[in-house]
Amino acid sequence: MPNVVFITGATSGFGRACAIRFAAAGWSLILTGRRAERLDELKEQLGGQVPVHVAPLDVRDHAAVRALVEGLPAEFRAVKVLINNAGLALAPGRAQEVDLNDWHTMIDTNVTGLVNVTHALLPSLIENGAGASIVNLGSVAGQWPYQGSHVYGATKAFVRQFSYNLRCDLLGTGVRVTDVAPGLAESEFTLVRTGWNQEAYDKLYRDTTPLQPEDIAEQVFHVATLPPHININRLEIMPVRQAWAGFAIDRD
Ligand SMILES: NC(=O)c1ccc[n+]([C@@H]2O[C@H](COP(=O)([O-])OP(=O)(O)OC[C@H]3O[C@@H](n4cnc5c(N)ncnc54)[C@H](OP(=O)(O)O)[C@@H]3O)[C@@H](O)[C@H]2O)c1
Repeated sequence: MPNVVFITGATSGFGRACAIRFAAAGWSLILTGRRAERLDELKEQLGGQVPVHVAPLDVRDHAAVRALVEGLPAEFRAVKVLINNAGLALAPGRAQEVDLNDWHTMIDTNVTGLVNVTHALLPSLIENGAGASIVNLGSVAGQWPYQGSHVYGATKAFVRQFSYNLRCDLLGTGVRVTDVAPGLAESEFTLVRTGWNQEAYDKLYRDTTPLQPEDIAEQVFHVATLPPHININRLEIMPVRQAWAGFAIDRD
């Protein structure tokens, strides 16, 4: 049986890097995301190496998620690894300044979208049993508060707790669950967060050494291919040049 990985948000950043990493190890790929042309480019790039199935998908649309999973071609049905990577941050200002729609979009994508895909793929993962994995992309923002994180950080706290809770329910099935929680990483994520503000992007990454998507992909591949008796519950990854800030104090 071929090893099949299902990746959400494969059109950019970590998801794209995961596609390339798993392809290098010979895995069959199911690649999803909303931007169809990017999926086609990736299929063009990796399709000569491994079997690739691309499917445009908005993870917020639970009927579309279910239809995609139910309609998978036979050779892609036995999904062994699910990488719940699709996600975004919006509205980097303070809570009291942001648009409520941006909060809803983050919840719909990072929480509802993630549970939509997980629910649809649980039967296949359980069928695979020992060695199957769910890797959820959380964030340091799910553990550590900072200004401007508001709902984004809260969605990633959901990802962390959902991952732990899933482990409890999946006990005995052999299916592993990991919350991979990166810190500062360089990707389109920051352009999306800042409304495609290239200046803000350059400022964030200036004169430092952020994580790169390939760094995260390597860790995702590692946790998903460990011997089947090992479960990494949470993997928090920061660049060496990032650490926590102190407490903020309001003064007269
Ligand atoms: N970069 C960081 O600093 C950082 C740090 C910690 C955690 N993370 C998390 O890591 C994950 C990946 O981030 P990244 O840095 O790789 O960001 P990215 O380069 O912006 O990629 C995000 C991916 O999510 C997809 N996506 C967004 N909304 C979607 C939707 N409604 N339906 C389906 N796909 C959707 C995008 O594809 P389409 O637009 O084509 O749909 C894109 O492929 C996210 O969950 C993010 O929260 C990022």
